[in-house]
Amino acid sequence: MSSAPRRVESLVTDKGNVPVYTTTIVEQPWDSYSEQDHATWAFLFRRQREVLQGRACREFIENQQRFGMNPERIPKFEDLNAVLGPATGWKLIGVEGLLPELDFFEHLANRRFPVTWWIRRPDQIDYISEPDMFHDLFGHVPLLLNPVFADYMAAYGRGGVKAHGVSAQALVNLTRLYWYTVEFGLIRQHGELRIYGSGIVSSKGESIHCLESAAPNRIGFDMKRIMQTRYRIDTYQKTYFVIDSFEQLMEATRPDFVPIYAELATREAIPAGEVRSTDVIIQRGTGEGWATDADT
Ligand code: PHE
Ligand code: CO
Repeated sequence: MSSAPRRVESLVTDKGNVPVYTTTIVEQPWDSYSEQDHATWAFLFRRQREVLQGRACREFIENQQRFGMNPERIPKFEDLNAVLGPATGWKLIGVEGLLPELDFFEHLANRRFPVTWWIRRPDQIDYISEPDMFHDLFGHVPLLLNPVFADYMAAYGRGGVKAHGVSAQALVNLTRLYWYTVEFGLIRQHGELRIYGSGIVSSKGESIHCLESAAPNRIGFDMKRIMQTRYRIDTYQKTYFVIDSFEQLMEATRPDFVPIYAELATREAIPAGEVRSTDVIIQRGTGEGWATDADT
């Protein structure tokens, strides 16, 4: 018998949130979810499905339906895996919280997607500083059914293992790419902007803000530019990058990054809200309400 999984969360200290890492893989303790847990899932699921109508990209909505995710009950990883495996070879594995970078990359490279087994508490409904099951399952899992995106995620994992052996700066460059695509990416479909980033689709406020607010910049996808750009972890993004297709993402990231890391090492990082003369500007943000403290 293995012991019950732990709920590993970041520590709140006088210096702010300090992330705690864990490598343990767990069985989803489905029978241990309380009625409150199922109710939290139901509430967030219904609210996001509604907000994402006409805002999330087509592939996100369609694939979430293919999984049969519904508000009634927290999904069983096993049931989702029965759909996912045959489609793209990915498998969800249960984890207790954030993984160390290299472990995370190795899982992705092997088409294993780590999903936090626990769901946020009621007092964290609108904001939680770290990934929980709602973010991971509702936000990330649907696009793993898309063959091109599924390949992108695995390629990213292999790239992460490689970058880990290059330098700390290479990892920073690669993490920015994940942030501005997988977590906070926008895509243009039929001439309109839509959401595909998981950090956005799992947040009501940012789902509306990223498309409708005049504050943020919306800029055409540019891989090297993104790899130099700082980001925000505690506020809405100041800049969103827009792809035209998942194929574009896959093609742009195909080259060997090692020479690119070397090239970027000589350049200054770009602040999160800065617009450059070389940017393809879809919309220049007004910057209204932007935090003035340092970006990550
Ligand atoms: N091509 C990148 C490399 O050589 C790996 C990568 C693929 C990174 C896809 C991000 C996304 O490191
Ligand atoms: Co995420």
